Amino acid sequence: MSKKIGVVGSNMVDLITYVDRMPGPGETLEAPAFEMGCGGKGANQAVAAARLGAEVMMVTRVGDDVFADNTIRNLASFGVDTRHVVKLAGKSSGVAPIFVEQSGENSILIVKGANADLSPAEVDKAAADLEQCRLILLQMEVPVETVYHTIDFAAQNGIETILNPAPAAANLDPERIRQVTFLVPNESELALLSGLPTDTDDAIVIAARSLIARGIRTVIVTLGGRGARMITAIDIVNIEPVKVTPKDTTGAGDAFIGSFSHFYVETGDVLSSLKKASLYAAHSITRPGTQKAYASIAEFEAFCREHAHATA
Ligand code: RIB
Ligand code: NA
Repeated sequence: MSKKIGVVGSNMVDLITYVDRMPGPGETLEAPAFEMGCGGKGANQAVAAARLGAEVMMVTRVGDDVFADNTIRNLASFGVDTRHVVKLAGKSSGVAPIFVEQSGENSILIVKGANADLSPAEVDKAAADLEQCRLILLQMEVPVETVYHTIDFAAQNGIETILNPAPAAANLDPERIRQVTFLVPNESELALLSGLPTDTDDAIVIAARSLIARGIRTVIVTLGGRGARMITAIDIVNIEPVKVTPKDTTGAGDAFIGSFSHFYVETGDVLSSLKKASLYAAHSITRPGTQKAYASIAEFEAFCREHAHATA
């Protein structure tokens, strides 16, 4: 069986400012550091999987500005298949001004640019290649119609899917995403999608099960520093957090999903893949930046040896 992973999603240029504190209205404040790097939830997930050796293709749109070629080169440098990265004349590429506080916590603004034009037709154009995939990854930085269309396409072709409903989108209809194999929200995305509170452990299970009752098979809730939790109709499994000192948490959720995808297509084992993904994401927050923080295979293996207790 193919082990290829397809990503139908976004790319952004991350403009990361490291701040001592956020400025108030009307205030000018000096910040200690700035970094520019490649980001976007779709591209991040693609790169995390590719870093670990997965065969990955990406369907995405860039603009015709200085960022476009850089984004394509960057994806290609990680071995991601960019034949379906389409340049759009007269558009800007997606950008994300990001602020990272000393705690490692981040605040992100996204300007979708060309990502807002990734249409269902683009997915159809890539259909022959997407059909070869074992797993397709989706997020919410492209139009919701494109997400629905890809879910339907994958279901018709017997391809498994992961939907990361991020950023939280009020227009996402739970009825239209029931065919996804894995839904991977954080707590606030789960709350919005289910219309239920998610402020306690029990509330999270009730909210996730309300989506399972509507047809979704498996909900994996990412809980930041508290790990993750997989909920199905019959099981609740906690994935313990890996303790590290956070430097920059930007893209940690994407590191989790991208690496999970790789481990899952390699082994077919959900639980062990989640545990390894949690280690991969933990490693990513010990380094500044988004994709540039993601570990290579060798770096990840070294990190796993240091944290051997977490995998036991
Ligand atoms: O999930 C992190 C990502 O969100 C950043 O890379 C930024 O580009 C936004 O898409
Ligand atoms: Na990071």
